[in-house]
Amino acid sequence: MGTFAKLVIAVAVVIVAVNLHFYFKNVTHKLDIPKDGYFGPGAKHADNTAIKPFKVNVPDAVLQDLKRRLEQSRLGHEVLEDVDSFEYGFNSKYLLEVKEHWLKKYDWRKYEAILNSFPQYTTEIEGLNIHFLRVQPPKTYKKVYPLLIVHGWPGNVFEFYKIIPMLTDPNKNLPGAQQDFAFEVIAPSIPGYGWSDAARKTGLNQISVARIFKKLMERLGKPKFFTQGGDWGSAITTNLAKLFPENVIGVHLNVIFVMPHSNAKTFGLHLLGHLFPSFTFSSPTQHQFSMKTLFLETMRESGYFHIQATKPDTVGVALNDSPLGLAAYILEKFSTWTNLQFRHLPDGGITKKFTLDEVLTIVMIYWTNGNIAASQRFYKEFFMDPNIDHLGMQYLSAPTGYACFRNDVPNTIPEEIVAANANLTHFKEYPDGGHFAAFELPKLLAGDVFTFVGKVEKMYNGRI
Ligand SMILES: *[C@@H]1O[C@H](CO)[C@@H](O)[C@H](O)[C@H]1NC(C)=O
Repeated sequence: MGTFAKLVIAVAVVIVAVNLHFYFKNVTHKLDIPKDGYFGPGAKHADNTAIKPFKVNVPDAVLQDLKRRLEQSRLGHEVLEDVDSFEYGFNSKYLLEVKEHWLKKYDWRKYEAILNSFPQYTTEIEGLNIHFLRVQPPKTYKKVYPLLIVHGWPGNVFEFYKIIPMLTDPNKNLPGAQQDFAFEVIAPSIPGYGWSDAARKTGLNQISVARIFKKLMERLGKPKFFTQGGDWGSAITTNLAKLFPENVIGVHLNVIFVMPHSNAKTFGLHLLGHLFPSFTFSSPTQHQFSMKTLFLETMRESGYFHIQATKPDTVGVALNDSPLGLAAYILEKFSTWTNLQFRHLPDGGITKKFTLDEVLTIVMIYWTNGNIAASQRFYKEFFMDPNIDHLGMQYLSAPTGYACFRNDVPNTIPEEIVAANANLTHFKEYPDGGHFAAFELPKLLAGDVFTFVGKVEKMYNGRI
């Protein structure tokens, strides 16, 4: 028997064992999710429910300190002579170009002004000041649907600066659009990311944040809304829709997480799909489906995940102390997660899809808020609460749309597998595009959201 056949059998045995384990655990386990939480400093107190206007305003001293650190940055290695690429991690030769650009051409105040062109607010929920953008459409639209759009790691609300105007005013900003509805967009910063407070206590996870964002929407007087998300935003909005089905009209995702053992059908599709992909999956792009590739790619690309899910604070020290280190750590993901092939390019292909200014703005938001470690703790919290697994295995009954961008990492989920886990109302594959769809291909993603919501309107005969 070949080594790989043995591996498949070993993996299958493990999956069956895990499946049985979860099956019996699920029979006895009841989701036990607190209705409330408190993550602020000291003893619990009632939230101040005021909604306060907010503007980004980084002090000059912070920018001067950054300049000094960049000028004095110390790189201890050169790229290997025969690997001028991203295969060993961020190419240090290219990192020096990024540094030059950052020091000589990048203008934070320009991007701060773009951020401040969106109305922003903060409000206290569960002891934390939650920052959010709230953008209204013009009065010309007959119908306005609230849309909660949630970012992930290593991103922040800046990922949405191009898509928001398309969602709030498609007829003006989305080429070819003729819509009678538009979205009021609410884009919060996850606690510990951007300008939202970081938790001071353990337990702030993808369930707590779902609850916090649901409270935010209710506080804004929008108890029924659509959601959109990728990365952690996908996990948060999916949890929100499962826990509070009465609040969510529909869930649009550009990244989906499915546990291979979530149910018997999903488990079967993974095994069958591995052995006979073209028989199991309708889309030709999934005819390469292979648990082996999936496993190996996941191993290759998930080192960061293991670190952050175990000892986030340790690496957080270095990243918060060195702007160049922080940029390498974050921008490597904007390269590889946009397209795995970019690992072979000397510059990681970053500027094929983004401008250096754009991706440096993402880094600047982590740098100026000093919250990279807080953002990484979100991985650790993911594994600390068994409810997350149990909820992850539950069927998502809200109408669900999946914009499947082919280069997402480590893989996209075949339509058949998604349909075994969610009320799949809309599915579309895009031949290009990766993990940061809103940032990379905002027109396609915005168009997909409108198509999905149009379909949901039809399901409800226009009575949403
Ligand atoms: C899918 O969503 C529609 C609209 O809410 C609902 O009528 C239908 O029962 C759902 N289907 C499943 C399988 O949950």
